[in-house]
Amino acid sequence: MTQFKKPHVVIVDDDEEVQNQISTFFEARSFKVSKFSDGETTLEAWVEDGNSWDVVVSDLHLPRMAGAEFTDNIHKLDPELPVIFIANPNSAETAAEMIGRGAYDFLVNPIYFPQLLISVERAMKLKTLKGDITSLREVVKTSTRSPNGIIGRSPNFLAALEIAKRVAPSNANILVTGESGTGKEVFARYIHRESPRAKGPFIAINCSAIPGALLESELFGHAKGSFTGAIEKKVGLFEEAQDGTLFLDEIGDLSPSLQAKLLRVLQEKKIRRVGENQHREINARIISATHKDLAVEIANDNFREDLFYRLSVIPLVIPPLRDRVEDIMPLAECFLKRFSLENGSPARYFSKDAVKYCLSNPWRGNVRELENAVERAVILSTKPEVCVGDFGPSLLEFISDSVSRVEKEASDEASETASGSGLNRGGGHKFDLVFDGHLPTLQDVTQKYIEFAVTFNGGAKDRTARDLGIDRKTLYKRLQV
Ligand SMILES: Nc1ncnc2c1ncn2[C@@H]1O[C@H](COP(=O)(O)OP(=O)(O)OP(=O)(O)O)[C@@H](O)[C@H]1O
Ligand SMILES: [Mg+2]
Repeated sequence: MTQFKKPHVVIVDDDEEVQNQISTFFEARSFKVSKFSDGETTLEAWVEDGNSWDVVVSDLHLPRMAGAEFTDNIHKLDPELPVIFIANPNSAETAAEMIGRGAYDFLVNPIYFPQLLISVERAMKLKTLKGDITSLREVVKTSTRSPNGIIGRSPNFLAALEIAKRVAPSNANILVTGESGTGKEVFARYIHRESPRAKGPFIAINCSAIPGALLESELFGHAKGSFTGAIEKKVGLFEEAQDGTLFLDEIGDLSPSLQAKLLRVLQEKKIRRVGENQHREINARIISATHKDLAVEIANDNFREDLFYRLSVIPLVIPPLRDRVEDIMPLAECFLKRFSLENGSPARYFSKDAVKYCLSNPWRGNVRELENAVERAVILSTKPEVCVGDFGPSLLEFISDSVSRVEKEASDEASETASGSGLNRGGGHKFDLVFDGHLPTLQDVTQKYIEFAVTFNGGAKDRTARDLGIDRKTLYKRLQV
């Protein structure tokens, strides 16, 4: 692993000359060195900045504190801190005993410096490895402590999890709703794992990612030669999910014809592959998800109400991250550990400001945005502490910055054109409909809008005609009214 910070060696010896010899040797090799002359001061200093210590090189015979006691005390503070003792030849045996008490190594005077360097470097490597193992254990622990890798402790999250837990053993179809990135798929997988179908397959498909005709054959399968390109017969996902769970993501985007076909499947529990007459029984539990408000989609005739009731025997709403602030840091910390291990990064913990940033950010992209932000911060971080600066601008900020920039450029361009040609495109105009106590007719609105568009374009009629999608003659006619 790349060492991003200077390795920090701590020298404990009451003999100033020895202290200086060792420190000069390590400083010349780009180590950071701290020196102490007895055990007590060393332990006190640990409280100040012990977190940054990598190895302790100590005389075995310290004033007022025997080597054994020193080892015990320092390991009470940091069990993983390697201690290397330097002993006189006549106390080599005692030094060897220290290894049994947890010391890392010992050397016998006179110090052979190349050997000391090897010992220090090995100790540091071991410490890093141990740290990685601890982090790994914590990741495993966190993911096992939290039910099946789902992290959260806020009342809102726990309420959703409780519903998921209760419905998991049943066969009921479940509709998971929630904003983008809230963890709908995570919950769907959790329900599957907690259900009697856990040993069966979990098949997920994103209904918005595949064009209609293709989606139909994906879901239902097709007979060989049933359409151009159907070279082989295909088993559909309903069949593949037999005795398991079929997760229909972004169900709100299903076309009307597929909505009708899905409704039939849910009613009859049978499917017919495209191009076949034979019906096949299916036994798949359907969990669907959408970030859309299906009530609105139903009101707008975009989604069938009867299908909605079939899919949503049990509705499960995943709250947005801003409504479960208590979940932010446990999630962020789990992501920090995961990405730090994956990237071999030195990042280990968040600074106070970084925590503040995480807690106050609106996370409009929810858990996914938080996960991406932590991944970026971990990759950019060069030290154990992840600072607020490592987060950089979020994607959403980036997009909104870009939009403002484009808007500004457009308005700058417009004023440039205006100063050059006398035309003023945009020019801060707003399209207002002034009501004087009555609703304007559509004709009034159209007329007003055309006039507005011409003004908006600084009088450029060709451009306005193009923008409005009408021909020039029509525009002129409308302006003469
Ligand atoms: N409670 C959680 N614990 C751990 N990780 C989570 C949790 N919720 C979400 N995640 C992680 O956040 C990311 C987004 O989750 P998921 O894909 O389930 O969200 P979604 O609601 O389905 O998003 P979309 O609407 O964009 O499809 C995933 O990487 C997932 O692992
Ligand atoms: Mg999803």
